[in-house]
Amino acid sequence: MTKPIKKAVFPVAGIGSRFLPATKASPKEMLPIVDKPLIQYAVEEAISAGITELIFVTSSSKRAIEDHFDSNFELEAKLIKSGHLEFLDIVRQILPKEVSCSYIRQPDTLGLGHAVLCAKPLINDQPFAVLLADDLITIEKKSCLAQMVAAYEKTKHSIIAVQEIAPSESDKYGMVKLADLDNGLGKIQQIVEKPSSKNAPSNLGVVGRYILTPAIFTYLENTGAGIGGEIQLTDAIAELLKNEPVYAWQFTGTRYDCGNKLGYLEATVAFALNHPEVGAEFREFISSLPNARPV
Ligand code: G1P
Repeated sequence: MTKPIKKAVFPVAGIGSRFLPATKASPKEMLPIVDKPLIQYAVEEAISAGITELIFVTSSSKRAIEDHFDSNFELEAKLIKSGHLEFLDIVRQILPKEVSCSYIRQPDTLGLGHAVLCAKPLINDQPFAVLLADDLITIEKKSCLAQMVAAYEKTKHSIIAVQEIAPSESDKYGMVKLADLDNGLGKIQQIVEKPSSKNAPSNLGVVGRYILTPAIFTYLENTGAGIGGEIQLTDAIAELLKNEPVYAWQFTGTRYDCGNKLGYLEATVAFALNHPEVGAEFREFISSLPNARPV
């Protein structure tokens, strides 16, 4: 019987240089989309997929992430004293009781593959998920990771989220070639990290959601520096798929690349328009801007 996926790795050690100076003293994963930090959206997605153990691969400047997922007695006491119980609920409901957090340091920024390898001591011999908080994905009927867990239950093999991207953007993504595609699920034949549009094997780009079998660690341990001088998860997956099947999942949901300013702004506007508290007024505001069409 296959083991259920209970653990998720969140690589959060990156320095967030694209958002400086905002990220000088606070983690990029703590940038809010309206009122919730990016990392909390990723964590909520993981929980919606049945994950109960969260493993954050952090670095020295990421204390705020630990504090965010811990309780804050002083804040709670103040909210109780001032009678702001609606806010108390918000801070107490960040994590359900049954969900645990572990933190492990990535001593140097040697790449995504290295970050995932840092989590090995906490994974043991079981399949696990990896979520990149930069990729914010809207939830339609099911979250992207929940869709992937359902697909994993059928395939019992590693699964990577993919979406069609503009050919000119292939040098920003892991790019895959599929052997087949059936209802969103296809077996990967080839995967390559950030190829030029000329060398891209297709127009399907990897989005930051992975379900990986523990065999990936053997390949990560033997993966040298790849593109950008970093240890690339994609390169280890390319080796993994020589020995066991790896699938791609074309998910349902809109993905925002919050690793860059434009994607972050697009996500902010899209989430603000649907926000229960400010959505209606924000819609009016957007429509009132010069040259704006009604939204
Ligand atoms: C990472 C991966 C890449 C993937 C991307 C998705 O790149 O290396 O294969 O397509 O995430 O967001 P990064 O965006 O960290 O450069």
